[in-house]
Amino acid sequence: MIEVNQITKKYGSYLAVDSVSFQVEKGEILGFLGPNGAGKSTTMKMLSCFITPTSGTASIVGKDILKDPLAVRQNIGYLPESAPSYQNMTVSEFLNFVASIRGFDDREKENRIEGIIGVTSLEEARYQTIDTLSKGYKQRVGFAQALLHDPPVLILDEPTDGLDPNQKREVRNLIKQMSREKAIILSTHILEEMEAVCTRAIIIDRGKIVANGSPADLLKESNMHNVVTMKTKSSPDQSLNDLLVELPGVAGAETEESGDGLFLTRIKPENKADILSEVKSLLSDKKVDIEEIYREKGFMDEVFWNLTHGGRN
Ligand SMILES: Nc1ncnc2c1ncn2[C@@H]1O[C@H](COP(=O)(O)OP(=O)(O)O)[C@@H](O)[C@H]1O
Ligand SMILES: [Mg+2]
Repeated sequence: MIEVNQITKKYGSYLAVDSVSFQVEKGEILGFLGPNGAGKSTTMKMLSCFITPTSGTASIVGKDILKDPLAVRQNIGYLPESAPSYQNMTVSEFLNFVASIRGFDDREKENRIEGIIGVTSLEEARYQTIDTLSKGYKQRVGFAQALLHDPPVLILDEPTDGLDPNQKREVRNLIKQMSREKAIILSTHILEEMEAVCTRAIIIDRGKIVANGSPADLLKESNMHNVVTMKTKSSPDQSLNDLLVELPGVAGAETEESGDGLFLTRIKPENKADILSEVKSLLSDKKVDIEEIYREKGFMDEVFWNLTHGGRN
């Protein structure tokens, strides 16, 4: 549905996007992650034909963004960063305007607008001018505009930015509901959002892709991946920690107070191996009283840090 081929954007001599290539299939929600200034918005603007690449190209449902920009625009819904729109129009006027541009006749217009007002819960705000709306409602108007023509591809630039937790949740649910029939790219710098919503993530740093994989795959890069964390009421004896370290595949064990009155022991594997069952059987042999024990998936913030901050001053 989306195919990006060595797309590059220079602003003067500044290389904002550096030969980026990737693909997105139907049913995928691709998270675009990166620090501020990494090139996320610039890439999205090129895919939605808002700016022209310096070199490289992309196609949306098989239509080239350079050769067939009108067809591309017909097939995408684009929510730009901070959802700009005409502030002095009412919601209803604005959606009417968008529906006219999209070329719907009067009856179809009415159907579409009614439908999308329902989907984005804009009933109450229908006759209010956009400048009087709260941030959350403005974002819904941006969504309504992007979804009105039911496009197969959605490009959403920080769709939950500035929303409160309830609104974030609503927007995430809406995105997930729509995802089966569409290919969706969304940018975010909220790592939990990416883990909660996206089927795959691309991390971009200084204009270049530095990682491309499912959230679970990215977590495997964490130094905490497969560390076994155990919580106990009393501090484990040194002799127990010694026994743990003697287990095959175990590199080390360290205990600290966990803050909730419990003691937290982290048992670190060699080469991120899965050591949970060996650890558990030793603990049951030794009849250690455990409050909690689990295998860590890894920490996304650490993965993100290592990929985007490494070697920088
Ligand atoms: N119109 C522009 N002119 C010059 N530089 C720009 C322009 N737009 C963006 N940039 C620069 O390009 C880089 C990437 O910006 P952007 O794509 O907005 O990043 P992101 O969305 O990842 O935060 C930044 O360093 C930004 O300052
Ligand atoms: Mg941006």
